[in-house]
Amino acid sequence: MITLHSVRELRAAVAHARSEGKSIGFVPTMGSLHSGHAALIEKAVQRADFVVASIFVNPLQFGPNEDLASYPRPLVADQEKLLSAGCNLLFAPSVEAIYPDGMQDQTRVSVPGVSQGLCGASRPGHFDGVATVVCKLLNIVQPDMAVFGQKDYQQLAVIRALVRDLNLPVQIIGEPTVRDADGLALSSRNAYLSAAQRAAAPALYACLRRLATALHAGERDLSLLIAAGKAELNDAGLRPDYLEIREANSLRMPSAKDAQLVILVAAFLGQTRLIDNLLVDLEQPH
Ligand code: PAF
Repeated sequence: MITLHSVRELRAAVAHARSEGKSIGFVPTMGSLHSGHAALIEKAVQRADFVVASIFVNPLQFGPNEDLASYPRPLVADQEKLLSAGCNLLFAPSVEAIYPDGMQDQTRVSVPGVSQGLCGASRPGHFDGVATVVCKLLNIVQPDMAVFGQKDYQQLAVIRALVRDLNLPVQIIGEPTVRDADGLALSSRNAYLSAAQRAAAPALYACLRRLATALHAGERDLSLLIAAGKAELNDAGLRPDYLEIREANSLRMPSAKDAQLVILVAAFLGQTRLIDNLLVDLEQPH
């Protein structure tokens, strides 16, 4: 696996792979890689001949009081993980390589609708930052397909809308969330948790599962379900940011007719904000 830092070198390497008739798969990341990222790379390896991963901690998607400065950047360990997952090329640009004229006057991409509410409400500007950098990375790499984790469910919806609305010629693949044995979704931010917080964290997924079971059992009073879920999170020592049930594709509030739902949650354990989600298909037996 080679590591490249400049847009020019990256474009030349991808052009070379294309000249050999290879299809290009792409996995954008912010590094601090875990088995969830390895699953994304492995999916890209299954689907494409030449797999590019990027590691770029994108300042544009962090709010002023968020963890941009402290976000872990273990490049050597990440390179080893990418290599063993079968990645061919790591693109690890500097902030200057991605935003050569600074971020102030950078053209922004904004995806209305699915960016609003949920994490979009708690993290103003976050999805504009994500959409902008993903648009730039897709234009730099020009892959045939790109793989994203379903753990960032709203982000995936934003990226699907971006690609559709701007007619970008790339197939977007959503890969299921990888979890620890106790149900906690893998996340680079889990590294911030103390032992006591880590012990409390599985309550997030347990809450999603209980709500899903209640929906399958016929409960349709969503406000009641959400109030019970939030109480459960509080009892477990988590501070809910939001807990919502939405229509799974559009992320709009569900109507009584909708059978494809998604339960989405964000909650704080100390300063660490964790997110998770669970799809509920009311047409399938639980
Ligand atoms: O999910 C992430 O790691 C980031 O939001 C992404 C998609 C790489 C954009 O910076």
